[in-house]
Amino acid sequence: MKAAAIGQFLLLIMACSAVTCSSADANETDLLSLLDFKRSITLDPQQALASWNHSTHFCSWEGILCTTTSPRRVASIRLERRGLVGQISPSLGNLTFLRNLSLATNRFTGGIPPSLGHLQQLQYLFLSNNTLQGTIPSFANCSRLRVLWLHRNGLVGPFPTELPPGLRQLQISVNDLAGTIPASLSNITMLDAISCADNHFEGSIPDEFARLQNLQQLYLGANQLSGRFPRAIMNLSALTDLSLALNQFSGVVPPDLGSTLRNLLLLELPVNFFQGVLPEWLGSLENLQKISLGSNFFNGTIPSSFSNLTQLAELNLESNRLVGKIPPSFGNLPILKVLNISNNNLYGSIPKELFRIPTIVQISLYVNNLDGMIHPDIGNARQLTDLQLSSNNLSGEIPTTLGNSGVLENLYCASQIALHEQQQAHSSSLHII
Ligand SMILES: *[C@@H]1O[C@H](CO)[C@@H](O)[C@H](O)[C@H]1NC(C)=O
Ligand SMILES: *[C@@H]1O[C@H](CO)[C@@H](O)[C@H](O)[C@H]1NC(C)=O
Ligand SMILES: *[C@@H]1O[C@H](CO)[C@@H](O)[C@H](O)[C@H]1NC(C)=O
Ligand SMILES: *[C@@H]1O[C@H](CO)[C@@H](O)[C@H](O)[C@H]1NC(C)=O
Ligand SMILES: *[C@@H]1O[C@H](CO)[C@@H](O)[C@H](O)[C@H]1NC(C)=O
Ligand SMILES: *[C@@H]1O[C@H](CO)[C@@H](O)[C@H](O)[C@H]1NC(C)=O
Ligand SMILES: *[C@@H]1O[C@H](CO)[C@@H](O)[C@H](O)[C@H]1NC(C)=O
Ligand SMILES: *[C@@H]1O[C@H](CO)[C@@H](O)[C@H](O)[C@H]1NC(C)=O
Ligand SMILES: *[C@@H]1O[C@H](CO)[C@@H](O)[C@H](O)[C@H]1NC(C)=O
Ligand SMILES: *[C@@H]1O[C@H](CO)[C@@H](O)[C@H](O)[C@H]1NC(C)=O
Ligand SMILES: *[C@@H]1O[C@H](CO)[C@@H](O)[C@H](O)[C@H]1NC(C)=O
Ligand SMILES: *[C@@H]1O[C@H](CO)[C@@H](O)[C@H](O)[C@H]1NC(C)=O
Repeated sequence: MKAAAIGQFLLLIMACSAVTCSSADANETDLLSLLDFKRSITLDPQQALASWNHSTHFCSWEGILCTTTSPRRVASIRLERRGLVGQISPSLGNLTFLRNLSLATNRFTGGIPPSLGHLQQLQYLFLSNNTLQGTIPSFANCSRLRVLWLHRNGLVGPFPTELPPGLRQLQISVNDLAGTIPASLSNITMLDAISCADNHFEGSIPDEFARLQNLQQLYLGANQLSGRFPRAIMNLSALTDLSLALNQFSGVVPPDLGSTLRNLLLLELPVNFFQGVLPEWLGSLENLQKISLGSNFFNGTIPSSFSNLTQLAELNLESNRLVGKIPPSFGNLPILKVLNISNNNLYGSIPKELFRIPTIVQISLYVNNLDGMIHPDIGNARQLTDLQLSSNNLSGEIPTTLGNSGVLENLYCASQIALHEQQQAHSSSLHII
């Protein structure tokens, strides 16, 4: 026997000499797997594994939960946010009863052991926010796997295809994965969340995605995806969150989208090449909380139907080619916090109704052709911390009421507008440009 093996054997004897361990409730495979795991940790700054010693049964070690029936087996390992440094031992693949494994937010390096793909009871696997490298192994045999979180690592290779048919959540964003998004993913019809944002995926969304009728969240932002607005998305009537931000999509946003995506809460399409007028139907998706359409080529006017969106907290339309006036009916948006329409060709005056929105925090209107004076009602906007008005044709003075609210942190204003000393005192960061 090698020295290490003798050591393991002795530890086993010692573990089983403790009162808590009899041959009936110990499993030496599980014990040896956990000890292997501990051995591959090189730094444990919070002493998370201090209790992992022979004085107690492994079922009472920190982060371990066991099955209740004898012999007791490891059912869950949960060691998140412990600052652990090291590699993930392939021995974990021997924990045949393991249902949950969470090692998220540590500093694990090296690869994801392919042996984890042998865990037939595995339901939840959280390895996100480490510094894992290499490719994603096959999880096709983990028939009970429901949630797979691998985001915020340094994983490379293609989009994973070896996945079990019952998977619900796939989170692989913020890695270095590349290639196209495979049509075969549409076979996993139970999926309710897919996030592959911030990788290097290219190509388009396969039409087969229309089969993902349970999909609620689809995050594809910050890749190199291209082509027209994906047709398949029009069939995803369960969608609540859709982000196609920071890609190279082009063409118009289909006009019938509003009749199918009735449950949408979040729509993010910024930094693409979309064009055409802003869809009137957006105003009929009454659950929308955030709309982000900035940095595209949208033209035409801002539909007044937007003011029907009573749940809207954020509206970003900046850096497009919008014309016309800001609809005064925006004042009816009861919980709006952020309004950003900077960098367009809007004209007319700033509707005083905007300042009556009790929740408004940021108003950004710079680089437009707005004119007229700033209405004294601005004093009503007591939450307002950011007001960006520069590069317009505004005139007059900043109403003295503004200084009254006292919370304004940033005021970007044109130089022709006079400012009272008292307001300068209240505003911590003034930018007269
Ligand atoms: C421990 O688990 C392994 C693998 O599941 C099994 O082969 C072995 O018989 C178990 N041993 C005991 C003592 O239960
Ligand atoms: C072993 O673990 C127990 C808790 O289970 C702890 O009290 C003890 O200090 C540990 N022993 C060593 C040597 O770390
Ligand atoms: C596994 O994790 C899920 C989700 O966090 C939890 O609901 C479940 O109770 C856990 N199961 C075990 C055995 O720890
Ligand atoms: C545990 O897993 C490792 C690596 O996957 C393997 O080499 C070893 O033989 C396994 N040990 C047992 C006791 O099954
Ligand atoms: C990721 O981990 C780092 C430390 O390693 C931590 O500061 C950060 O909050 C974590 N991020 C998330 C989203 O959990
Ligand atoms: C999955 O299970 C089958 C049948 O047991 C086996 O042949 C195959 O090698 C396994 N695949 C992986 C990736 O573990
Ligand atoms: C999975 O999807 C691909 C592409 O859509 C298809 O060719 C294949 O037959 C599907 N496989 C199964 C098992 O449904
Ligand atoms: C998608 O929707 C269109 C129009 O409603 C329908 O004709 C088509 O069959 C749907 N496709 C799938 C795969 O559900
Ligand atoms: C907006 O609401 C008004 C009534 O408040 C209604 O007449 C109009 O049809 C609605 N617009 C949309 C696009 O839902
Ligand atoms: C908007 O732009 C499209 C081309 O992108 C053009 O055909 C259309 O006439 C424009 N509409 C308006 C109202 O400017
Ligand atoms: C408005 O959008 C521009 C461009 O994305 C950004 O620089 C600015 O910070 C935004 N302003 C607010 C108040 O969100
Ligand atoms: C700016 O507004 C003034 C009136 O206040 C008007 O005379 C002038 O033509 C406007 N300039 C532009 C570029 O619209």
